[in-house]
Amino acid sequence: MASFQHFLFFLSLLFSTSIACDRCVHQSKAAYFSSPASLLGGSCGYGSMALSFNGGYVAAASPDLYRDGMGCGACFQIRCKNPSLCSSGGVKVIVTDINKSSQTDFVLSTSAFTAMAKAGMAQDIKRLGIVDIEYKRIPCEYKNHNLSVRIEEISKKPNYLAIKVLYQGGQTDIHSIDVAEAGGWNWRFMTRNYGAVWNTSRAPAGPLQFRMVVTGGYDGMTVWPKKAIPADWKAGAVSDLGLQVTAMAQEECSPCDTSDWH
Ligand SMILES: *[C@@H]1O[C@H](CO)[C@@H](O)[C@H](O)[C@H]1NC(C)=O
Ligand SMILES: *[C@@H]1O[C@H](CO)[C@@H](O)[C@H](O)[C@H]1NC(C)=O
Ligand SMILES: *[C@@H]1O[C@H](CO)[C@@H](O)[C@H](O)[C@H]1NC(C)=O
Repeated sequence: MASFQHFLFFLSLLFSTSIACDRCVHQSKAAYFSSPASLLGGSCGYGSMALSFNGGYVAAASPDLYRDGMGCGACFQIRCKNPSLCSSGGVKVIVTDINKSSQTDFVLSTSAFTAMAKAGMAQDIKRLGIVDIEYKRIPCEYKNHNLSVRIEEISKKPNYLAIKVLYQGGQTDIHSIDVAEAGGWNWRFMTRNYGAVWNTSRAPAGPLQFRMVVTGGYDGMTVWPKKAIPADWKAGAVSDLGLQVTAMAQEECSPCDTSDWH
């Protein structure tokens, strides 16, 4: 019973027909940002935090992958296809930005781009500038972080609240977020403001609890953290919600077997 209360409430196969399998390997191209500053202002809203996520292995994704911000925080494994330059494992990146270039699906941070190279080949791959890749979505893993929210500076007491969702694990998408006073049932829906930032002008006055509808593969489930944010919340504070969102429903994707990837 304890795990039932503390972790995930499985609702139903809400989205069973609408979500396509996205574990397949796709063919595309990737380039890199020559200046790290280009990624600091990423449209997901992570700011300089993005560089600490994943050893700086971050990416700007095409609009199809960015999905109006739902793709923010998604993780991908990307490898370049030139066998003399590129390692077979490639690199694992987190989406922190959008790039509308029609030539590429990903524009990577320089460190992520060169991490696709075999040892000693970093300069050679950089010289190419743009490379053929294959990629697949993978679950995000945050060993030292639970799902967290950051109170954004534009929040204004008593009722305007904007939060940024951080450390969204698994291969998951957040479809909705509701907020209520801790222990209460008067849930108010939040709206995706931009990127990973959600807002409401109807925030309750007391301590805040959240619930989120999340999909991963074919499953829709409500994630219901029991940890609340104290009523005296302050802009800039990051609150650990006390649970991890993890990978789900791998078996649903057997047609997209990717077992040659490690
Ligand atoms: C997209 O990435 C390219 C590098 O390939 C860069 O030149 C361009 O400015 C980027 N576009 C946007 C909107 O950031
Ligand atoms: C929240 O974000 C949405 C989408 O960007 C925006 O239309 C709305 O005005 C924002 N709400 C408030 C109260 O600012
Ligand atoms: C994650 O949540 C669990 C359960 O509430 C807690 O024991 C653990 O300390 C949290 N981890 C971190 C890194 O805060």
